[in-house]
Amino acid sequence: ARSLTEREKQAAARAAATLVQDGMLVGLGTGSTVAYLLPALAERGVRIRCVSTSPRTEEAARALGLATEAFGDIDRFDIAIDGADQIAPDGWLVKGGGAAHTREKVVAAAADRFVVIADSSKTVERITAPIPLELLSFGLAATRRRIGATTLRDVPLSPDGGVIADYVGDVVDPAAEAARLSAVPGLVDHGLFPPALVADIIVARGAEIEHRT
Ligand code: A5P
Repeated sequence: ARSLTEREKQAAARAAATLVQDGMLVGLGTGSTVAYLLPALAERGVRIRCVSTSPRTEEAARALGLATEAFGDIDRFDIAIDGADQIAPDGWLVKGGGAAHTREKVVAAAADRFVVIADSSKTVERITAPIPLELLSFGLAATRRRIGATTLRDVPLSPDGGVIADYVGDVVDPAAEAARLSAVPGLVDHGLFPPALVADIIVARGAEIEHRT
């Protein structure tokens, strides 16, 4: 039998799929929760245009017959749906466990409605490290020194050629930490997503769906 976590991921993904209507431009996130969203969207049988945030999602979407296209000239989405690694009570998120946070943030920011889907293990009392980072390889050692404690991933490159790392020092306040990281030259983007970016948070807890807007 599938674990409770897997069932929760699927339940959250299915709930989000019902928000997608015929004709919509849809941004697709990345990760094991989004892996449940894709078949749920395909089953809905709505005609939609999709842009993926990773090669992994792109392949899976295509295999299910979802029409995916390059970001190209698309300058907004009706909706974007994605997972998260941490969800704090005030709506701050950490994303990028799957190394796709830079693209995910671009897509989230372009969406009229950014919907987060998660199993209950993702809700936290407060945001803590690791915070995923994408860094330019140019000057990497100096950038890491400026950031503080960081570790490099085993599969270190993003599809855009950035170096994927994690900040592993203290996070006292997510807003202050996000501002500090954003100000570091050579840091392409970090995985802290502010509440202002998020329209809906859908968390499955056992048989319950918690939907915060
Ligand atoms: C990908 O880079 C991440 O931001 C994912 O959205 C996040 O790690 C959640 O992944 P899961 O759905 O696999 O937990």
